[in-house]
Amino acid sequence: MTIHLRRAGAADIAFIMACERRPDYERFVGRWPEEKHRARMEDPEFRYLVAEDGVRDLGFAILHETWMRPQNLYLKRIVVHDAQQGHGKRVLAALTDWVFANTDAHRFWLEVVETNPRARHVYASSGWTEEGMVREGYFDDARGRRGSFVQMSILKSEWPR
Ligand SMILES: CC(C)(COP(=O)(O)OP(=O)(O)OC[C@H]1O[C@@H](n2cnc3c(N)ncnc32)[C@H](O)[C@@H]1OP(=O)(O)O)[C@@H](O)C(=O)NCCC(=O)NCCS
Repeated sequence: MTIHLRRAGAADIAFIMACERRPDYERFVGRWPEEKHRARMEDPEFRYLVAEDGVRDLGFAILHETWMRPQNLYLKRIVVHDAQQGHGKRVLAALTDWVFANTDAHRFWLEVVETNPRARHVYASSGWTEEGMVREGYFDDARGRRGSFVQMSILKSEWPR
């Protein structure tokens, strides 16, 4: 299965919101309203990509870059519609290929909630390194207290393709 990435547009927002709202995902990713997605899509610091396999859309990613950290590209969000079917690993590989081929990123990085072992496994088994904890970096609504992120990254030199 070859994964293709395409620039997302307003017509993709319904799919993106449906992915964010899949059961159990609320513990791991934010659920933005339509207006917020529209605004971020128009913001040049953000790039939205939809992953497809030629038959259907599988998921999406949001990338963020800021002048504050040149050549550090932040993976703000990655979500597949149907988890546990091997889509996420393939989408992440295609995305990493795309990032290092199409941007000037030296370091591709993210923050994953500490209590998301599936995502942490997917990143680690795809060559990403855990850099440390972002202590109490967000408010965990489900647990009624602050939770921590694990910060992870992969360098261009570590991506062998
Ligand atoms: C994270 C996400 C993108 C991964 O995609 P996916 O399609 O579910 O992942 P895959 O099916 O490709 O691979 C899942 C891997 O995790 C493993 N896994 C599943 N549950 C696990 C757990 N509780 N602990 C550790 N590993 C786990 C599977 O065994 C598999 O690894 P393997 O191929 O080495 O056996 C997807 O689950 C998702 O969208 N989750 C909700 C949103 C989210 O968490 N996004 C990431 C935010 S940082």
